[in-house]
Amino acid sequence: MMYGVSQLGYLVASALFVFALHWMNTPATARRGVYAGVAGTAIAVIVTWAEPSVIHHVWIVLAIVAGFAVGVPLSKVPLTAVPQRTALSHAFGGAAAGLVGTAEYYLRLAEGPATLTPFRMSALIAEIILGYLTLTGSLMAAGKLQEVRWVPQRPVTYPFQNASNFLLLGVALALAAALTMHPDAAWAPKLFPVIIVLALLFGVLLIIPIGGADMPTVIAILNSYAGLSAVAMGFVLDNKLLITAGALDGSSGLILAIIMCKAMNRSFANVLFGAFGQIQKTQAAGEARVYKSETAEGAAQVLEQASLVVIIPGYGMAVAQAQHKVRELYDQLKKRGITVKFAIHPVAGRMPGHMNVLLAEADIPYTDLAEMDDINHDMPQCDVALVVGANDVVNPAARSDKTSPIYGMPIIDADKARTVFAIKRSKNPGFAGIDNELYFGDRTWMLFGDAKNVIGELVKELAAGSGMH
Ligand code: TAP
Repeated sequence: MMYGVSQLGYLVASALFVFALHWMNTPATARRGVYAGVAGTAIAVIVTWAEPSVIHHVWIVLAIVAGFAVGVPLSKVPLTAVPQRTALSHAFGGAAAGLVGTAEYYLRLAEGPATLTPFRMSALIAEIILGYLTLTGSLMAAGKLQEVRWVPQRPVTYPFQNASNFLLLGVALALAAALTMHPDAAWAPKLFPVIIVLALLFGVLLIIPIGGADMPTVIAILNSYAGLSAVAMGFVLDNKLLITAGALDGSSGLILAIIMCKAMNRSFANVLFGAFGQIQKTQAAGEARVYKSETAEGAAQVLEQASLVVIIPGYGMAVAQAQHKVRELYDQLKKRGITVKFAIHPVAGRMPGHMNVLLAEADIPYTDLAEMDDINHDMPQCDVALVVGANDVVNPAARSDKTSPIYGMPIIDADKARTVFAIKRSKNPGFAGIDNELYFGDRTWMLFGDAKNVIGELVKELAAGSGMH
């Protein structure tokens, strides 16, 4: 009876997870998707808890309390920190899979190794290797994204790096094969921790050569590893829900990584082994390049004369939380009959849909958001391109400079507009660590300052100007 109830609960939870992902497809149903995911997880926990084989209820309560203690503060991080927060979640998932696999191996060994069949051992080994490498890999990735002082931000490379990494993985897999075939040999319980250490080490070594703009993509790849380790855990524990949820997690992470790779025109292998984001020796010393800057007053006058203004938001808008001021600017321009469009690059910001979420928060109509390919057709007719804290996604080097690390990445053609105003705080490069030709263009004027303040000044100028008309 109890078995039937728990299986039904797992089925309902699985269905809710599938619906949750489906509803995430559009902003209109995304909230419902979140509720479905929460409900599915709650059902899964309750049904599992009710299993007769669970006897240590105090431990479960303690685990739930610990989960809340970590989860509640994690849910409050700002949107700009979501990639590293997600990496931490994957680290916890990897740790859980690794620890469960370890406990399961020693438990079954003590109870008599008959249940350590080759199939279960293979799943168990896959679970611990994927789990532990996801743990350290995700911790490294979170550290890099959070710019933790003792984690090197830029790629760390050395000769024969990929070869030595593969060798390490090869050794781990060879030992794993030996263990799978002889799970109860006298040496087996001692070999198990060696495999764990190799997996932990591999996780670190896999991530250190990756840097810069590839980090968010790596997070998605780690997401799929975490999902796969959950699938393996499902096979070890004979739990169908873990298999389904892990497969959904693994495949959605993979799809996300593919979407990001496509948007940056990079291959998977390139992301994992390309050491992107090394500091470049840009511009020969002595070749001082000059920016032209403009005042808010001057920029407002040009904006007033425009018929088509394209606003290109980027990571800087998120940092400055300038979306509400952008909305005010949008209102001011619309009031004058000016057409205003928002050009959304698929990897602007630090996560997919980052800009859409911010603009929705400021109630900017979805109909005025344009995808990159659509808006690029209009850029030559655009009077003013207003770049709000975007950098790499408007860098023309991606189109023309074969030596640039972002060469081939599709960009928003801001440089084709009649006038470009670019808002940023300093002369520092963007996420990819490279200079941006756009800022030195003939038709580009810089509006240096925090995006929220600069847009606020533009709004003030326009509001004052409208009084005079
Ligand atoms: P970035 O290239 O990161 O540039 C952001 C710019 O915003 C910086 O140049 C910075 O210049 C400026 N900024 C920061 N804080 C600001 C503030 N308070 N006010 C005004 N400006 C501010 O951003 P992007 O163009 O959005 O490109 C995103 C990058 O992330 C790309 O390299 C992309 O490949 C990578 N990436 C994104 C994703 C997803 S899914 N979104 C996935 C993988 C990779 P200052 O410091 O001078 O202000």
